[in-house]
Amino acid sequence: MTNAIELQRGTAGELRDVTREYGGKQARVRALDGVSLAFPEGTWTAVMGPSGSGKSTLLHCAAGLERVSSGQVLLAGQDITAAKDDELTRVRRRQIGFVFQSFNLIGSLTAEQNVALPLRLSGRRVSKKEVRAVLASVGLADRMRHRPRELSGGQQQRVAIARAMVTRPSVLFADEPTGALDSASARSVLGLLRGMVDEAGQTIVMVTHDPAAAARADSVVFLSDGRIVDRASRPSAREVADRLAALEA
Ligand SMILES: Nc1ncnc2c1ncn2[C@@H]1O[C@H](COP(=O)(O)OP(=O)(O)O)[C@@H](O)[C@H]1O
Ligand SMILES: [Mg+2]
Repeated sequence: MTNAIELQRGTAGELRDVTREYGGKQARVRALDGVSLAFPEGTWTAVMGPSGSGKSTLLHCAAGLERVSSGQVLLAGQDITAAKDDELTRVRRRQIGFVFQSFNLIGSLTAEQNVALPLRLSGRRVSKKEVRAVLASVGLADRMRHRPRELSGGQQQRVAIARAMVTRPSVLFADEPTGALDSASARSVLGLLRGMVDEAGQTIVMVTHDPAAAARADSVVFLSDGRIVDRASRPSAREVADRLAALEA
């Protein structure tokens, strides 16, 4: 059993003093080193930092895709730190959506079929109407029957976002969602995410390298060597770039 625990009111997820180590005794890497971070409901958090600073590890731990070495992970009102594998799978399927830089769509399936997949996997009835509504909400009402190779990069990422949103997750996690897109497509995907937060109260946690992307978020945390070393609230792209440059120096 996962324990139902008292989350801070209005918190969709939280890491408490989380450490994550990789490797054996010989070559141990501490990818996260005492990270505490809460994701308030209905807000967008961006995670930045140099390559290898632990951004993806943070995202995977917060989403229950990876176990932590110590500390606590809270998600949607549950302590998932010590959840059994099958429970964790269930929590992941119901409570989180995940978007990757490389879209990870299934090439042989249409947009509609890709979006329906998470519902099938969690054993839910697939309502065509619901699937179409989600695709329409990301601006792809006229692309339902297209396969990934028939769509632009920006459109493929929209399908991936629709797929992540179809289960109405408590938190949408995104690892460099605009990293493979041209700047116009990136802007449009970021606008879509911003709208999901402002209009539907979606909680988003996003890793990015791009200061312009981070500047669309409500708050930005900066990682270095597995630790949170800086935070900014509603920073400009310029401010984000300056802080990042200071870390990479
Ligand atoms: N599966 C793994 N096995 C061993 N080391 C890993 C693994 N995943 C990540 N690491 C190491 O942990 C550190 C943080 O990695 P990562 O979270 O991917 O950083 P970022 O996303 O910021 O580039 C790096 O030193 C990386 O090499
Ligand atoms: Mg990464």
